[in-house]
Amino acid sequence: MIYPVILAGGSGTRLWPLSRELYPKQLLELTGNNTMLQDTILRLSGIEEMESPIIICNENHRFMVAEQMRNINVSPDAIILEPVGRNTAPAVAVAALKTLDASQDSLILILPADHFIKNTRVFHQALNTGIDYAKQGYLITFGIIPEAPETGYGYICKGEKLGIAGKNLEQEAYSIKEFVEKPDTETAAQYVNSGNYCWNSGMFMFKSSQVLGEMRKHVPGIVKACENALKNGNRDLDFFRLDKSSFEACPSDSVDYAIMEKTENGVMIPFQAGWNDLGSWEALWQVGKKDDNSNVVYGDVLLHDVDNSFLHASTRLLAAVGLKEHIVVETADAVLISPRNRVQDVKSLVNKLKAAK
Ligand code: GDD
Ligand code: MG
Repeated sequence: MIYPVILAGGSGTRLWPLSRELYPKQLLELTGNNTMLQDTILRLSGIEEMESPIIICNENHRFMVAEQMRNINVSPDAIILEPVGRNTAPAVAVAALKTLDASQDSLILILPADHFIKNTRVFHQALNTGIDYAKQGYLITFGIIPEAPETGYGYICKGEKLGIAGKNLEQEAYSIKEFVEKPDTETAAQYVNSGNYCWNSGMFMFKSSQVLGEMRKHVPGIVKACENALKNGNRDLDFFRLDKSSFEACPSDSVDYAIMEKTENGVMIPFQAGWNDLGSWEALWQVGKKDDNSNVVYGDVLLHDVDNSFLHASTRLLAAVGLKEHIVVETADAVLISPRNRVQDVKSLVNKLKAAK
């Protein structure tokens, strides 16, 4: 049995002003007719042994999440509500505790809810290889063969190439040498040129029993707090609410730091499938459908002599003349204008806004 565990608790600040605390990017339709959360689940169709998904999100988003599942006819195994964000490791601990079975064989596939993947066939090949390894007791991280020295991603250095005797793997697998979270541009460029590093996709797969064993060893405080949050939590309609005070007391950490960096049983499966974490407006320009002047346009937009730009109108006509390589995003209460190469700084804007509140 494989349980997809969808991490949907982030806030996607770099996609402000469309992505807001109450309406984060994973719940938006940014690339087509489905939201990223919906696509994350629909993309798994065709993989054997997949159970219904477990979604872990902030309690403020529960009705939107439930409605988005109804709209794609999916009945989740559980929608687990966090009273506060504690990063990804506690969410994984909760999912592992919840799916632990007597035979200790159940697998969890951890999927961030905010990714774009163009080539589902290659993604499925990587998943199938991951399943083969996870069943043998390894902790799998999925790597993305990098296309550019992106600084918004973690990097993983591969070790020796692995194989399973008598098995034809659909994708290659490697041991893991090191994890480096979000390096500077110069270091990232060295990594990409070396050919030894992959982007960390933030997708993982392991036996629930195995990851809990590692967590008890490396981050016992997280496991304890999550056990309490489940034990003292309660059902509320179709949701499961983690106990507030137990979960608030949980240390905050990412899966990468808490386990994947420390385990001796890590395996990386690299793949190349047009993956993008859609973390910025630049990423949305990259994956978006371009017009003849390489503009990506949503909504009511009128252009003259504009090229290589991203323009998104939500509530009124957006008109532009003579723009090059810019991002313009219009919403009812805020407008963002930025050169395409400065979009990582939107995070600083949002921090300023928060400080001014
Ligand atoms: N349930 C829950 N609770 N989910 C969370 C929380 C939380 O407290 N915090 C983050 N998430 C979810 C986000 O919604 C997202 O789907 C995923 O976990 C990753 O969090 P991000 O905040 O988007 O992380 P990041 O993009 O800065 O970096 C991570 O992902 C990159 C790839 O997308 C790292 O793992 C990087 O190394 C990696 O390259
Ligand atoms: Mg992200």
